[in-house]
Amino acid sequence: MPIWRFACFSLFLGVFLSSVPELTGSAEFNIAVELGTIIRINTSAHTNTECKVCVRQDTQQLCQSSVVLRSDTLLDFSCLQPENVFTVQIIRDNVIYNIEPKEYNAFQKFNRTFIWNLKPPATKSLHLNFTSTGLRQIQPTDSCPDKHVYMLAVEDVSVGRFCPNGTIRQVDVRHVGKLSLEVSGGRALDKKVIGVSLGHLINSLANFHVVLPEKSSTQDFFTPIAFPENAETMWYFTVPHAYYTDVRILSYTVPTCLQPENIPTMKYTWQGKEPLVKLMNVSQPSVEPGNFNLSIKNCKISGPQPPSQGLMVHVQISAIKRSKGQCEGDLPEKQVLQIRVNKKDPKSTCVLKLDSVIMDTITIASGNHFVLNSFDCNKDEMELTVNQTLECKEWRDCASTPFPLTFNYEQQCIPGVLKTIIWHLHGPQNSAVELQSPAGDLRYCPPEDKCNSIILLNVSHVNSGITLGQFCPKGTIQKIQIRESKIAITASVVSFNDRNLATKPFLTYSFTQDISEHYIFTVAPKMDNPTMLATPAWPSGMKASSTVSWIVNLEPQFKSNLKFRNVSQPKCKEVHTNIAVQTIRSQTTLYSTKKDEKIKDLLVPESFYLNVTNCKSPTGAFRAMMEITLQNNKLLGIILSIVGVVVVIVTAVGICFFLSNNY
Ligand SMILES: *[C@@H]1O[C@H](CO)[C@@H](O)[C@H](O)[C@H]1NC(C)=O
Ligand SMILES: *[C@@H]1O[C@H](CO)[C@@H](O)[C@H](O)[C@H]1NC(C)=O
Ligand SMILES: *[C@@H]1O[C@H](CO)[C@@H](O)[C@H](O)[C@H]1NC(C)=O
Ligand SMILES: *[C@@H]1O[C@H](CO)[C@@H](O)[C@H](O)[C@H]1NC(C)=O
Ligand SMILES: *[C@@H]1O[C@H](CO)[C@@H](O)[C@H](O)[C@H]1NC(C)=O
Ligand SMILES: *[C@@H]1O[C@H](CO)[C@@H](O)[C@H](O)[C@H]1NC(C)=O
Ligand SMILES: *[C@@H]1O[C@H](CO)[C@@H](O)[C@H](O)[C@H]1NC(C)=O
Ligand SMILES: *[C@@H]1O[C@H](CO)[C@@H](O)[C@H](O)[C@H]1NC(C)=O
Ligand SMILES: *[C@@H]1O[C@H](CO)[C@@H](O)[C@H](O)[C@H]1NC(C)=O
Ligand SMILES: *[C@@H]1O[C@H](CO)[C@@H](O)[C@H](O)[C@H]1NC(C)=O
Repeated sequence: MPIWRFACFSLFLGVFLSSVPELTGSAEFNIAVELGTIIRINTSAHTNTECKVCVRQDTQQLCQSSVVLRSDTLLDFSCLQPENVFTVQIIRDNVIYNIEPKEYNAFQKFNRTFIWNLKPPATKSLHLNFTSTGLRQIQPTDSCPDKHVYMLAVEDVSVGRFCPNGTIRQVDVRHVGKLSLEVSGGRALDKKVIGVSLGHLINSLANFHVVLPEKSSTQDFFTPIAFPENAETMWYFTVPHAYYTDVRILSYTVPTCLQPENIPTMKYTWQGKEPLVKLMNVSQPSVEPGNFNLSIKNCKISGPQPPSQGLMVHVQISAIKRSKGQCEGDLPEKQVLQIRVNKKDPKSTCVLKLDSVIMDTITIASGNHFVLNSFDCNKDEMELTVNQTLECKEWRDCASTPFPLTFNYEQQCIPGVLKTIIWHLHGPQNSAVELQSPAGDLRYCPPEDKCNSIILLNVSHVNSGITLGQFCPKGTIQKIQIRESKIAITASVVSFNDRNLATKPFLTYSFTQDISEHYIFTVAPKMDNPTMLATPAWPSGMKASSTVSWIVNLEPQFKSNLKFRNVSQPKCKEVHTNIAVQTIRSQTTLYSTKKDEKIKDLLVPESFYLNVTNCKSPTGAFRAMMEITLQNNKLLGIILSIVGVVVVIVTAVGICFFLSNNY
């Protein structure tokens, strides 16, 4: 029973299969060929086969290795799987109307190519509307996921291979052309209609109309294979709003031109702008908004035809959505100011453009009109460095007037976090510079230290480049005087995002007449923290013959403990270096170092000078670091408290006396 049933099933299956309308060696089929259509059936190249395609003519069977069908025909093959050896071409001539691909069910297993020969009238071009499919250009050797490959030739020049599902919406063909659609055997034909309409005559071989999608995208485009002399191709790109385009040339070759100045270029036209022409070997436009055209034109070629190296360009168009910031303005001429915007991480997606040129570091100087665009930039991703020169040439313009050091520029839209401000102070000849902090006193900060401060001031000599020292707020140094008219102050902003800090003056400068020492620091030590002092340029030594003086002012109830933390003495030829301590009120010299004398710490009961002098020709560095701590002057404290108590008692007695007299 089961065997009988199986046989029946097989029989049924066989009947079913033979009714499927496709060609096998056993069946004969009537192929309906429309007027204007030719069907070519041929063994594919390099196939060595005995299999033949047979057509019935009247009562005769004619079997050949290829056949061309021009009208309805009865047809079969002499082998079982003809699709393995035959390919089919379905050709329509003189196409000027919409293309509606038509499947031939009998050939569905075969590799088949649909060919439409396009032939517009002589004075017209043809527009092929691919809106329903969309095309994506591929390399000559690539294939498509759905096994449908479109090929377009114009005037016998292959202008490209394409897959469906791309951004090319329309192709304008200059004149006679050939559109082919290659479908692999076994794949059902995708019957999307390609609109055909007539247009004005065009100069270029082909115009591609590309509509970029509203999402990040990257598209590849290739110039025609065997680009003819003087021929041109054009691409029209429609770019969505808020999307910005980058163009990259991935590879290219250019021929040797008869006129070298006609070397093929990339010619871009953005809507409403002058064309932009770029050589192939330079960077192409980047981060550009809006619709644009790209044209590539070949030159007249020198030498044999075809040239050994023709024109070939593989160009990649990317578009991404970006958020744009714009800052436009002028830096006033009168302030000698320079603002630098610097992208911190060169790999970040942030793009800075000054006057439409992309740069990682943008410098704007006084007198410049600038248009600064930023794309996808976080404020934190950019650093601002401000460089300002403050010059006073004439004494009458500046003598002893304190000026605030601030950075008040109007271009608040310049993006970035303020990182560094450099002030170059240039005083009149033979002047000295005096620095004070209206926001409180300054603290000396050793070079390797950041002093845990939001702002760090580096005071240096412009001419020699020597750093006097680093200072930060909240200290005990009330005034810094420098016998030098050219000083640079670099304020490094360590950890703040607020530019307002720089607009509040935290430092004032003035130019004064010459001073007695090279450097004078006025210091008012406080009880809470020790005061650190160091010779200028620490840890380097002081300059030969230079002098520095600290004027240490004490409140009467305090004594100060002066400790020499780290002193290094050079070898001197004649007069030795000197470290001297002298009280200010009584002018008593408490201490003065002589050669080789051991330096000892000191308790000073009142305000004093600490003067340090280098010798004329030191061998080795002369430097010193000191620390001042305060002590309560006990006796004075007791006296003061007794005076206080007496005053209270006297006052109390006085009040009692007054009250008792009045009541
Ligand atoms: C069939 O293909 C061969 C090469 O494979 C070619 O020489 C021949 O001309 C073709 N015949 C037809 C009718 O297209
Ligand atoms: C049909 O096309 C496929 C690739 O799509 C190829 O591998 C195969 O050899 C082709 N068959 C014939 C008969 O040309
Ligand atoms: C292209 O065809 C689509 C429909 O497939 C139509 O909406 C569109 O207007 C056509 N474009 C042109 C330029 O004819
Ligand atoms: C078209 O391509 C996109 C990716 O580029 C893919 O997600 C989508 O499925 C494709 N559509 C078809 C119909 O192939
Ligand atoms: C493209 O180029 C043509 C001239 O060839 C011009 O008329 C058109 O406005 C351009 N389109 C854009 C978007 O720049
Ligand atoms: C680009 O090529 C031109 C000549 O074709 C040459 O003069 C120029 O120096 C090249 N530029 C670069 C950046 O290589
Ligand atoms: C600051 O600007 C001056 C000119 O005003 C220039 O000479 C100097 O090199 C600039 N310094 C820095 C660090 O940019
Ligand atoms: C201080 O600034 C000067 C000049 O800008 C520089 O040469 C020096 O290295 C800086 N010093 C420190 C400690 O940062
Ligand atoms: C120490 O320097 C001050 C200036 O700050 C000066 O007036 C004083 O005379 C100097 N004293 C000595 C002993 O050098
Ligand atoms: C003194 O300072 C120098 C320079 O900073 C350092 O190399 C040295 O170790 C210090 N000496 C002492 C005793 O702290």
